[in-house]
Amino acid sequence: MSIVSVTHLEAGYEDTPVLRDVSMTAEEGAITAVLGTSGCGKSTLLKNIIRLNDAWSGSVRMFDEEVMVMDEPEFNQLLKRVGVLFQNGALLNSITIAENVAIPLEQHTRLPAPVRDHLIRIKLALVELEEAIDKLPSELSGGMRKRAALARAMALDPDLLFCDEPSAGLDPVTAAGLDNLICRLRDQLGMSVIVITHHVPSIIRTADKIVYLSDGGVLFSGTVKEARSSGIEQIERFFREGVKDY
Ligand SMILES: Nc1ncnc2c1ncn2[C@@H]1O[C@H](COP(=O)(O)OP(=O)(O)O)[C@@H](O)[C@H]1O
Ligand SMILES: [Mg+2]
Repeated sequence: MSIVSVTHLEAGYEDTPVLRDVSMTAEEGAITAVLGTSGCGKSTLLKNIIRLNDAWSGSVRMFDEEVMVMDEPEFNQLLKRVGVLFQNGALLNSITIAENVAIPLEQHTRLPAPVRDHLIRIKLALVELEEAIDKLPSELSGGMRKRAALARAMALDPDLLFCDEPSAGLDPVTAAGLDNLICRLRDQLGMSVIVITHHVPSIIRTADKIVYLSDGGVLFSGTVKEARSSGIEQIERFFREGVKDY
């Protein structure tokens, strides 16, 4: 089953179209990488799938349900099954890492405090960040902040996880560590992951399937291997150039 299925999506800002006709699917238990050059509309696609922006037309299905027609309470219910790691991490700076991870648990569950605290420890252990539990975000490195944001995205055990450029701004070793972690979420927890990235080494390490956005549409979708011998010059060049920082 496709966990996400987008059909003829049209979306943009004010009068400016960004996505003209996007159709793509992401499969259950797989890592799907959405790629393309900077500014091509990757984050816009994510925002329209999770309804932070209202799409102009087309269809978005998640967990086999049409989300564009759902009312607010129905959609919020569905969002409990979805974790999002935003491009800028977006931890709250004035509270500790534990308190940041607690936010979704407090919003969406009525767990007693000891259970909640136990879950926070489990999530931080998953991202190997137990020692930072009582630290403020400003006391952590960039890679640690990304992992903390990931722990928060994972707080409610989502079936589907979106990560918007998780390795941007990280050194290569830290980026590789994050890629490993995302693969473990798939392999050990069976999570479905949609990663937005233009980082070729990460794509090669993690992606079961790629969706390449260009010019408001999908230029290619398939495996990395298929992409590299697709005969589409723009895509082959994307991998040739990107692989140089491998
Ligand atoms: N809030 C916004 N208002 C107006 N235009 C935006 C906004 N966010 C993004 N854009 C524009 O939409 C296009 C796609 O942006 P984005 O989806 O962020 O690209 P990507 O994530 O692929 O780098 C860009 O031209 C960008 O300038
Ligand atoms: Mg973006």
